[in-house]
Amino acid sequence: MENSNTQNSDCGCDSYLVSLVETSNGQQAVTNESGRSTGLLLASITGGAAIALSVVCFPFVSPALRRVVLPYVPASTQQVENVMKALSRSSGTDKKLIDLGSGDGRIVLAAGQRGFQSHGVELNTVLVLYSKLTAWRQRIKNATFSRQDLFKVDYTKYDNIVIFGVEEMMPELETLFKQSLKSSSQVIACRFPLPNWKPAHVIGKGIDTVWVYEV
Ligand SMILES: C[S@@+](CC[C@H](N)C(=O)[O-])C[C@H]1O[C@@H](n2cnc3c(N)ncnc32)[C@H](O)[C@@H]1O
Repeated sequence: MENSNTQNSDCGCDSYLVSLVETSNGQQAVTNESGRSTGLLLASITGGAAIALSVVCFPFVSPALRRVVLPYVPASTQQVENVMKALSRSSGTDKKLIDLGSGDGRIVLAAGQRGFQSHGVELNTVLVLYSKLTAWRQRIKNATFSRQDLFKVDYTKYDNIVIFGVEEMMPELETLFKQSLKSSSQVIACRFPLPNWKPAHVIGKGIDTVWVYEV
């Protein structure tokens, strides 16, 4: 005799078996759904991290795309010391300094600590922010930084112009300095000298050499 309570009306199968299949399907659907969410979360985290990394790295890679390629190479401790020696020769009134392409701000900060009203211009936004943060943490109020192209600076405002550039850019800079620098200012060139000017002093040697030009 057929038991109508244990029969499924749609398929005529055993209700208990149908309920087991439905439960297992339901659990599988929940498992599939949570697996999909985890996958989406992981994909979002990985994608987000990749985008963040690209944003941070781009300013360090983009110099390679410019007309004059000047990469970020921080000055050595000896080089910074040589620049400070050059600055110690400038008189007490010559207190305004600019570092063209200031990197992580080490020259601007060191000069700021010695009482110079120092400013760094730098194209790399990450390095500008880092320099500002260091100045704030070390409480060096006379060291400031801005994101700016070093070829578009008003050099006339400064008594000391520091440049750690590359050889290819020095002839162009020399021309710009000749056109715009005020007399009594000095140019401090690190690692690569100006091609035609005669330095008043040469400090240090090898890759840490600093050439001082009195205008
Ligand atoms: C050789 S590093 C010198 C860094 C710093 N002056 C030092 O001595 O540690 C040159 C810096 O110039 C920056 N730079 C390159 N082209 C520039 C431009 N057109 N204007 C401003 N900064 C630039 C680079 O991002 C890099 O940080």
